[in-house]
Amino acid sequence: MTTFDVINPATEELVGAVELATLEQTDAAIARAQAALPAWKAVAPGDRARLLRRFAAAIDADLENLAQIEVANSGHTIGNARWEAGNARDVVEYYAGAPERLFGRQIPVAGGVDVTFAEPLGVIGVIVPWNFPMPIAAWGFAPALAAGNTVVVKPAELTPLTALRLAELARDAGIPDDVFQVLPGKGSVVGQRFVTHPAVRKVVFTGSTVVGKQIMAGCAEQVKRVTLELGGKSANIVFADADIERAAATAPYGVFDNAGQDCCARSRILVQRSVYDRFMELLEPAVQGVKVGDPSSADSEMGPLISSAHRDKVASYVPEGAPVAFRGSAPDGAGFWFPPTVLIPLSEKDRSVVEEIFGPVVVVLPFDDEADALRIANDTEYGLSGSIWTRDVGRALRVARGVEAGNLSVNSHSSVRYWTPFGGYKQSGLGRELGPDAVAAFTETKNVFIATEE
Ligand code: TAP
Repeated sequence: MTTFDVINPATEELVGAVELATLEQTDAAIARAQAALPAWKAVAPGDRARLLRRFAAAIDADLENLAQIEVANSGHTIGNARWEAGNARDVVEYYAGAPERLFGRQIPVAGGVDVTFAEPLGVIGVIVPWNFPMPIAAWGFAPALAAGNTVVVKPAELTPLTALRLAELARDAGIPDDVFQVLPGKGSVVGQRFVTHPAVRKVVFTGSTVVGKQIMAGCAEQVKRVTLELGGKSANIVFADADIERAAATAPYGVFDNAGQDCCARSRILVQRSVYDRFMELLEPAVQGVKVGDPSSADSEMGPLISSAHRDKVASYVPEGAPVAFRGSAPDGAGFWFPPTVLIPLSEKDRSVVEEIFGPVVVVLPFDDEADALRIANDTEYGLSGSIWTRDVGRALRVARGVEAGNLSVNSHSSVRYWTPFGGYKQSGLGRELGPDAVAAFTETKNVFIATEE
């Protein structure tokens, strides 16, 4: 039996040890999920909805505990962790509305009646990264369960604790054990088995683009359905006609939230050249004002990075002599801390401009006009999110339509609402999660013709 030591990233103390599932245990769990499928599919829509509502209520009742677990396991600030637990609750509650609304269609045909049914796919494997353990798990499992599928979830090795607690809450709410299972384990063992096991009919993967491509290639072998939410290198575009004070005051939070470990992080700030100097003057105190510290303190706005290895990776983007404009602060001593850092790269081809850093490092680049802003914004293999700051509504819409990304915000940095679709263009992903259509991604359409002629 192998176990994994879960470490508190803010203190480097041991939080606990979690058993990692073996290949045999994964196969057994998938077999149980498959066996549970006929009964779960047959649960009346209203009853399935009621079970999911009870699950949402159980999450709500446990919200503070879940949030505290996430603070200890992931180093998320307590404010963020409460939002994340609340998001998981809301996602389950929202998709609890789906079972009775899983409509088919009646299509006019000659000689009979033609109807379609939305049928569950089967066992769904959800592979979760460490950056938002609760929300990202829920975005997969909630619509999947609502559509009548059974689910196996693999949390990231580093952050399994809240997923395990969610499985207990689901059981307390009356969702049968084998319908929703959480299997902590290695990606190369448990996650890979979701890809190769023929009973798993869909894989929902969130994580790095490198692994996402391997998952997609693996799924092709069995024409397995796949949803991918991958990396990002999103642009925060600030035009000269914007409210520059607000744009500068909010820019740090658009990238440094969750210590920059966010696929939607606006990690490239593009500023129109005529206001560049003014923007930088305002950005400096805003960055220095970000409160980095003990994540369990209500005042903290940013916690540590997830691990020592990840801190090393982030630090590699700020080597000796890097073009640092200014930095914020971070605690000394134990914990995987890294201060908010602003770079002004000399070239648009610099690695810090091109690659996803997934830490509190942002680059600032000047642009000349709208066309130039779009050119730079789209000069990336990614396309997940982005922000546009302008007072000109026509420009806001033109640029929003011009940026090749799935989630854009104007004069704001919001990306995620559970009732609106979320997902990436280009190498940021495949498919959409959340919003009114997510359940459809967990069903097959079956067409049935019934002859009425004698
Ligand atoms: P990944 O290696 O992609 O891990 C994400 C999930 O996939 C984890 O649960 C992981 O398991 C699992 N996994 C790894 N290899 C697998 C395989 N061959 N087959 C099936 N599942 C597999 O990401 P990471 O190492 O956590 O982070 C690396 C980089 O990815 C980050 O620096 C960042 O750039 C990016 N990232 C992006 C996102 C989002 S939201 N887009 C989230 C996290 C990371 P283990 O836990 O066992 O590795």
